[in-house]
Amino acid sequence: MSGMPSAEIREAFLRFFEARGHVRVPSSSLVPEDDPTLLFANAGMNQFKDVFTGRARSELRRATSAQRCVRAGGKHNDLDSVGRTLRHNTFFEMLGNFSFGDYFKREAIGYAWELLTTVWALPPDRLWVTVFRDDDEAAALWRETAGLPEERIVRLGEKDNFWAMGETGPCGPCSEVHFDRGPEHRCAAPECGVGRCSCDRWLEVWNLVFMQFDRDAAGELHALPRPSIDTGMGLERIAAVLQGAGSIFETDLFRPIIAAVEELSGRPYPEGEDRLPFRVIADHARACCFLIADGVLPSNEGRGYVLRRILRRAARFGRRLGLEAPFLWRLRAPLARAMDGAYRELELRAGTVEAAIRAEEERFAETLESGLALLDRVVEEVRSSGGRHISGETVFRLYDTYGFPLDLTLDVAEENGLIVDTAAFERALEEQRRRARADRRARARAYGEGPALEDLPATTFLGYDQLRAEGEVLALLSGQSRVEEARPGDEVTVVLDRTPFYGEGGGQVGDHGELRAGPADGGARLRVTDTRRAGRGVFLHIGRVEGGVLRDGAGVTAEVDAGRRRDVERNHSATHLLHRALREVLGTGVHQAGSLVTDERLRFDFTAEGPVAAAELRRVEALVNAHILDPLPVEWFVTDLDDARRMGAMALFGEKYGQRVRVVRMGDWSLELCGGTHVGSTAEVGLFHLTGESGIGSGVRRVEAVTGPGVLAMLVAGRAELERAAAILRCRPGEVALRVADLAERLAERERAGAAAERREALDRAERLAAAAVELGRDGSAFRLSSAELPGVGVDGLRSLADDLRARLGSGAVLLTGGGAGHGV
Ligand code: SER
Repeated sequence: MSGMPSAEIREAFLRFFEARGHVRVPSSSLVPEDDPTLLFANAGMNQFKDVFTGRARSELRRATSAQRCVRAGGKHNDLDSVGRTLRHNTFFEMLGNFSFGDYFKREAIGYAWELLTTVWALPPDRLWVTVFRDDDEAAALWRETAGLPEERIVRLGEKDNFWAMGETGPCGPCSEVHFDRGPEHRCAAPECGVGRCSCDRWLEVWNLVFMQFDRDAAGELHALPRPSIDTGMGLERIAAVLQGAGSIFETDLFRPIIAAVEELSGRPYPEGEDRLPFRVIADHARACCFLIADGVLPSNEGRGYVLRRILRRAARFGRRLGLEAPFLWRLRAPLARAMDGAYRELELRAGTVEAAIRAEEERFAETLESGLALLDRVVEEVRSSGGRHISGETVFRLYDTYGFPLDLTLDVAEENGLIVDTAAFERALEEQRRRARADRRARARAYGEGPALEDLPATTFLGYDQLRAEGEVLALLSGQSRVEEARPGDEVTVVLDRTPFYGEGGGQVGDHGELRAGPADGGARLRVTDTRRAGRGVFLHIGRVEGGVLRDGAGVTAEVDAGRRRDVERNHSATHLLHRALREVLGTGVHQAGSLVTDERLRFDFTAEGPVAAAELRRVEALVNAHILDPLPVEWFVTDLDDARRMGAMALFGEKYGQRVRVVRMGDWSLELCGGTHVGSTAEVGLFHLTGESGIGSGVRRVEAVTGPGVLAMLVAGRAELERAAAILRCRPGEVALRVADLAERLAERERAGAAAERREALDRAERLAAAAVELGRDGSAFRLSSAELPGVGVDGLRSLADDLRARLGSGAVLLTGGGAGHGV
C-alpha cells in the first residue's frame, strides 16, 4: 500500500470545497435525530434533509462534510455484499459537497472533475460517468466541462440513476463517476461494462445527485423550492484508488484492523476467497464500534437488533478463523488508530464500546452452545427418520427461544445436507410480529390513544411550580370513545387544556391526585391513578369517578397528590446525584441507559465494563449522601441543545433531543438534560441507600436505591427484625451477632462429637460382623461371606460399612440389607 493516507484524502476533500465557499459541517450521529423514516444515517445529505425541502429555515447555501454512515437495513442495505465484493461496507464514510438552492449541475460536475483529475491527478481516460436516461443537460456538461467522449457517458434508468434516501424525502436524478481498474480486472461476462455489470473492474467513486423533488408518503413527487446538489464519495473507495490498493480492505483504513485479526487468530491474511472472514470481521468491527459509540446497544428490536446481527455475524466469521473467545472488542483500538483521531467518540467511549461488544460476544457464545446442542439433536432426529427437512417451526423455536439466528441454522443444515423450510419460518415470524402489533394496539387503546385524540391541542404543563390549577375538560374518553359525561364508578381518561399533573416520561412515573368540578358543573370528583402522555403532548388523566357527574367541557380543579409527588421528586433528584457520583467513581465511560423513578424507589441503568465492586458502590453511596447532607440548590432553565452540550450537561445515552432543552442544575456538581420534576434543594432527598446492583444485558448494569422515607422504612423494618431476633435469643439487640456466633460454634462442636461417635460405632459393628463371617468354598477357592440385615441403616451407612468389611475380610463377599426396599449393597 502506498499513496495518499486516507486522513489526508478526507482533509483534502473538505479543504477543496471550503476554498470554494462551502461551510465544513461535522458528521451527525449514526442515529438520526427526529427522523423516524431512517434507521441509520445512510448518506451525507441526511442531516440537511429539511434544508433541502425548505422545512427548516437556514442561512446555509453551501456545505461540505465527512459523514459516518451505516447501510445495513432499510432502503440501502449492503450487509450481505460485504466481503464478497471488493467495494461494499456496512459502515463507511461519505465525503460530500452540498448546494442548497445555490449552484446546480454545471458547478457540481466542474468541481468533481477538477478535484479528481487536477488535484488528485487521476488519469481522465480511466473515468466513466453515468447519467439518468433523458438527462441531456448532464450529458452535455460532462462533454463540455470534462471533455468526455460520448461512449464514456452511459445512460441508465431509475434503478441506477435516480437517488432517494428513503421511501419519502428529497430525491432526484443523479450522475455517477466510475473508475476503471483496468482490463486485467475484466470479468467473464461478455457484456462487461459500466452499468451493465456489477463486477469489481468498475468502481463507483462519486455520486452527484441533482436534488429536484420531495417524495411524499403517497409516492407523489413535488418540486423542491430550489434545485440543489448532494454529492457523496465513499472515502474507502477513493482511498483504494489513490493508494493503488487491490480493494477497500487493503487501504490504510482497514490494514491495522486486519493485522490485529491476523495476530489474534495466529493466521496470516491469505489470498483469494479465504480472505472473506478477515474482511467481514474488519468491516463489522467498524460498524459495531461506531454504532455503540453513537448510543446503539445490542437488543432484539430496531437499531439494536441490526447491531446484534452485525456483531454476531462477525463472531461467526471469527469462529472460522478459530477465534472462539471474545475477540471483536479488541479491534476498537486498531480501528481508532486507523481513524487517526478523526472520530474522538472512539476514544471517549472506549470503555463502553469494548464492554458492550464483549458482553454481547459472551452472550452469543452461550446462545451458540445451547442452540447448537439443540440443533444437533434436531439434525440427528431428522436424519435417523430418513428425512431431509428441518421444519420451519423448529427453526423458529431456535430463533425465538434461544436467539439462534436463521443464517446460522441454514449453515448447519447445509453442512449436514439438510434443507430448512424457510417459508414456514417466515410465516411463524410474521405471525409473531402480527401478535406483537395487535398487543401494542390493544395497549394504546387501553390508554385512549387513537383517533379520538387527534384533534386535541398539546396540554400546557404547569406542574414544575404548581401542584394545583384550574383547567377545562377538553375530552372525556371511555376506552377509545369520546363520551359526554361520566358517572360514579366509571373508569375514564380525561384531557384538560392545562394541568399540574406530570405525565409519565423520562423514566419518572405519572402523578396521582384528584380532579374536582364545582357544583354548577356537576360536582364531580375523579381519583386520578395514573397520568400519561399520548402523542403530540396530550396529557391523559386516567382514573375513576368517585362522586357527582363529570362532563365534557366542565371547569375542574386539578390537584396532584403532593406527598407522593414529593417522594417521586426525592428519587428523581437522587438519580441525578447518583449518575454524577457513578461517573466520579467509575469514570466517564458511564452513560445512562435508562431509569425508573417512582415514589418508592429508583432504578438506574448505565453502561459499564462489568460488575461494580462493593467498595466502589459504598463510595458512590457516600458521595451521594455527602451532597445531601451538605446540600446543593436545585434549579432549572431552558436553553439551546448546543449551549447545553457546551456547558457539559449530561444527556441520556443515545437519546435524541429537540433544539430547545431543559437543563437541571444541582449547584456546580451536576448538570443534566431532564424534563422531570425535582426537589428545590438536595437536602430534601433526606438520605440515600443503594439496595442492589446487577447486570441486565450487554454491558449494561443496574443499580437500585431508596431515599428519604424509603430509607427510614428500611431502618424501621431492620430494627424490628433485629429486636425479634434478640427476643428469640434472649439478649439485647447489640449482642445478637455475638450470641449467634456462640450458638454456631456450639452446634458445630456437637456435630463433630456426634460424627466421631457414629464412626466409632460403625467400626465396632464392622469388627463384629467380620468376626462372624462364615468360611465357604474349598481349599484353593475358599472365601469368607459376611451377611447381615440392618433395618434402620440408610444407603450411605450400608456403603461405608461394606467398605469397612471388605477391608477386614481380605478375599470375601459382603451381603448387607437395610433401610428399606432397594437398599441392599
Ligand atoms: N446521497 C447520495 C448517495 O448517497 C449522494 O450523496 O449516493
